[in-house]
Amino acid sequence: MAGLIIAIDGPVGSGKSTVARRVAELLGYLHLDSGAMYRAVALRAMRAGVPLDDAAGLERVAREARIEMEMNGAERRVSLDGEDVTERLRGPEMSLYASRVAVVPGVRRVLVTHQQRMGAAGGIVVEGRDIGTVVFPHAGLKIYLDAELEVRARRRWMEYEQKGTPTDLSRMVEEVRERDHRDRDRTASPLRRAGDAVYVDCSAMEAEEVARLVAMLAREREGASAAKGD
Ligand code: DC
Repeated sequence: MAGLIIAIDGPVGSGKSTVARRVAELLGYLHLDSGAMYRAVALRAMRAGVPLDDAAGLERVAREARIEMEMNGAERRVSLDGEDVTERLRGPEMSLYASRVAVVPGVRRVLVTHQQRMGAAGGIVVEGRDIGTVVFPHAGLKIYLDAELEVRARRRWMEYEQKGTPTDLSRMVEEVRERDHRDRDRTASPLRRAGDAVYVDCSAMEAEEVARLVAMLAREREGASAAKGD
């Protein structure tokens, strides 16, 4: 049995990436960070000078982009058209740009198709905003990871501090609020909790604790579907 598709959705800074990576490690699954794909398209559009209001141009950028994700030891690397862009994609500038590119329905269509192809065989943890609602509505386990706005902003702020890009905490709160608004209020696949997702508020939980909880739920579901002969 190849294993489940585990969908982890949630707002910016909810700890999805850390949790998804760790769950994949605990279960021996693959890990797909769908946000990195939106970031890669945003970078390609920025470099090509395609304006954010040119929906057809952005869709073309998404269609022509060659996005590859591979593991290098414990590290996930993202390459765009053959160039390693992992670090370039993580900056605050790309976060905002990606959230604007992600509102374009044509871009979403292209990336959703890619994601469905990459996850079809199962045994994978996919994180994003619309994974349990749109990309894999039949995922074997859906998690909606949430945390209070201030907690999420503080986590992002600490990440930037550690990377040597200090930011102002109050500015970070505003930026997270703005991205929340854009992710939740767009018309194309807004961030929302799937009816059958397990809701986890991790404001007061360590990532490791959340990952172990998710892995435990996954093992239960794997067991249940094996018993049913799925
Ligand atoms: O998870 P992230 O911060 O790397 O995502 C970057 C942007 O892409 C974010 O604004 C939301 C968007 N996104 C999306 O719309 N759908 C996804 N499945 C993943 C990310």
